[in-house]
Amino acid sequence: MTAAFQAEGLVKRYGKTTALDGVDLIGRPGTVLGVLGPNGAGKTTAVRILATLLRPDGGRATVGGFDVVKDAERVRRLIGLTGQYASVDEDLTGMQNLQLIAALLDHRGAEGRARAVELLAQFDLTDAGGRPVKTYSGGMRRRLDLAASLVGRPDVIYLDEPTTGLDPAKRDDVWAMVRRLVTEGVTVLLTTQYLEEADALADEISVIDHGRVIAHGTPAQLKHIVGGQTVVVRPLDPEHVPAVADILHGIAGVTPESPSRGVLTVPVDGDAALGHVVRQLAAAGIPVLELALRLPSLDEVFFSLTGRHEVAEVAA
Ligand SMILES: Nc1ncnc2c1ncn2[C@@H]1O[C@H](COP(=O)(O)OP(=O)(O)OP(=O)(O)O)[C@@H](O)[C@H]1O
Ligand SMILES: [Mg+2]
Repeated sequence: MTAAFQAEGLVKRYGKTTALDGVDLIGRPGTVLGVLGPNGAGKTTAVRILATLLRPDGGRATVGGFDVVKDAERVRRLIGLTGQYASVDEDLTGMQNLQLIAALLDHRGAEGRARAVELLAQFDLTDAGGRPVKTYSGGMRRRLDLAASLVGRPDVIYLDEPTTGLDPAKRDDVWAMVRRLVTEGVTVLLTTQYLEEADALADEISVIDHGRVIAHGTPAQLKHIVGGQTVVVRPLDPEHVPAVADILHGIAGVTPESPSRGVLTVPVDGDAALGHVVRQLAAAGIPVLELALRLPSLDEVFFSLTGRHEVAEVAA
């Protein structure tokens, strides 16, 4: 299958900073590729190269088979970009911003107006459409930005940290929109700093750090590297710690760790383990002060990945 977009060995330097140090990315048609990485990892740089806004110093990238440098014009007709920072005009209304973009894409007059109206409705901005963007909340701006990237009905869309700074309800709206785009056959590249977001949306994830891909795989494959979820138990009475340790060992098959006094943690494969823990604690009559199932945090993912010196590769 041909890739919707592909980057091979991308290198980008800014003076002495190597922002990208040989990055490979692949977007399979109709899927979401999550690019997960901390601040300064190189996410925006990679997106800008794939969007023809920046030339690589090495390597190559294509969209729909067209080279982003040599065929930049054709690439631009295939893509939509929502940048990390709002790109709409503050003094224009939502409606005017969308119509302006439509006109730039050669949809003038009634056609552009119809597309703008349709997108405002889709992003729940119909009522705000006549107001200048400077009166919008952060979430409304983000939604208008997303709408703006869809005016030209792109085949490939890049979303650079689309939910950073949004409250949970607005974040859920963006997630729903991404899922809808994919059902319509659009290929999405989504950058994020949140493991949870990549997990919720991405079919495959490339983890980047210091301009290199340090791991690639499906969310399940990556979690496997990191060790799935963790059960945390703090018995009310510290005397019960050894009994709790026995129960956790029996369920997880490994010896629990004690990150702080009176607390035990153990990695588990799935959330079913929590039910077993609850039942066995109850059966043993052990009251608890704290009982939780948590995902590895992004910190733990990175620690686990970068703690090794070789590049972590997951077979696809
Ligand atoms: N125009 C520029 N001039 C100089 N250095 C730059 C420029 N743009 C990016 N960099 C540097 O390149 C590296 C990668 O930056 P990039 O913006 O791609 O990271 P990012 O993963 O998008 O980070 P964030 O999560 O903070 O958005 C960083 O060290 C950054 O300081
Ligand atoms: Mg960025």
